[in-house]
Amino acid sequence: MNQLDAEPSCTRRAVHASRRIYEMIKSQIADGVLGAGDHLPSTRALASDLGVSRTTVIAVYEQLAAEGYLETSQGARTRVAVGAAMQTRTSPAKEMQSGRTPRLSAYGRRAAKLALPSLPAPDATRSVIEFLYGALSSADFPTLAWRRAYDRALLQRQPRLFYAAPEGEPELRVELQGYLRRARGLACDLDQILIANGSQQAIDLCARVLLDPGDPVVIEEPCYLMARRVFEAAGASVRETAVDEHGLVTQDLPNQRTTLAYVTPSHQFPLGGVMPVARRQELLSWAQKSGAWIVEDDYDGEFRYGLRPVDRGSWIQGHLPFLSYLESV
Ligand SMILES: Cc1ncc(COP(=O)(O)O)c(C=O)c1O
Repeated sequence: MNQLDAEPSCTRRAVHASRRIYEMIKSQIADGVLGAGDHLPSTRALASDLGVSRTTVIAVYEQLAAEGYLETSQGARTRVAVGAAMQTRTSPAKEMQSGRTPRLSAYGRRAAKLALPSLPAPDATRSVIEFLYGALSSADFPTLAWRRAYDRALLQRQPRLFYAAPEGEPELRVELQGYLRRARGLACDLDQILIANGSQQAIDLCARVLLDPGDPVVIEEPCYLMARRVFEAAGASVRETAVDEHGLVTQDLPNQRTTLAYVTPSHQFPLGGVMPVARRQELLSWAQKSGAWIVEDDYDGEFRYGLRPVDRGSWIQGHLPFLSYLESV
């Protein structure tokens, strides 16, 4: 339950109403409907026109005055402040939509051209079977256990509300180190584990530290679109390599020098193939020859029907110079 859920619904309604009125006045100033020096309706009149409480309107006027959009003074009507329209200049996102090009870096220009998938709006009224990948059935989510663990962690952490180590909490990294050794046969030092905010940030970090614009990057075809977009935005020259039922077809890997290969051997995305160990060895030999880093996105290697996850140690050990292991946790 989030904080808003815990509040009475009338409080939530007031918050929504004040947000709407705030946005309405701001966009009227931006569009020139309200010019500098124009008077706003009295709080009483606006409250009655919009069917909200006067307190809500007073709070909005005070907020806009604090931000410099309105001027209020004792006994005088509230007015639009001089220069307020300048502050609401169109945002870069709106400029892009209107076809105008805002000043962007080379990275920004590349990223702006990339099409991203849009998430369908949740529709609770439709009784269809959801085939959208990545969604968890709410019936499978251990809500109570999750809440208990969350509460416990929150209470324990209370005296330490401060910035944490950028590479991740040491306790979490120690736990992961043990887990990776026990469950995945992967022996690694603590300073080889870095916690990221999801795979997107982790892949982006890999691209930043390993790639320069124009560098060749091998991806699987088909592959996880959001990873491809990271490499494209970084200016890499993306080369597709075919996939079959055993994952990446290593025979088809390019002969030229390659900077990085992004792979999903434990569960090819999206086709699901598991790469046999012989192919993994071929991939490592190729990486050694072509000087490529391997970024392995093991996003759901844990989910196997009736079998334990594919052991990592057998193909990783001895090849660490060419391997950057990316685990989404
Ligand atoms: C290959 C692959 N990597 C990463 C992710 C997302 O991982 P996370 O939620 O940890 O960012 C997905 C999600 O579908 C994926 O398919």
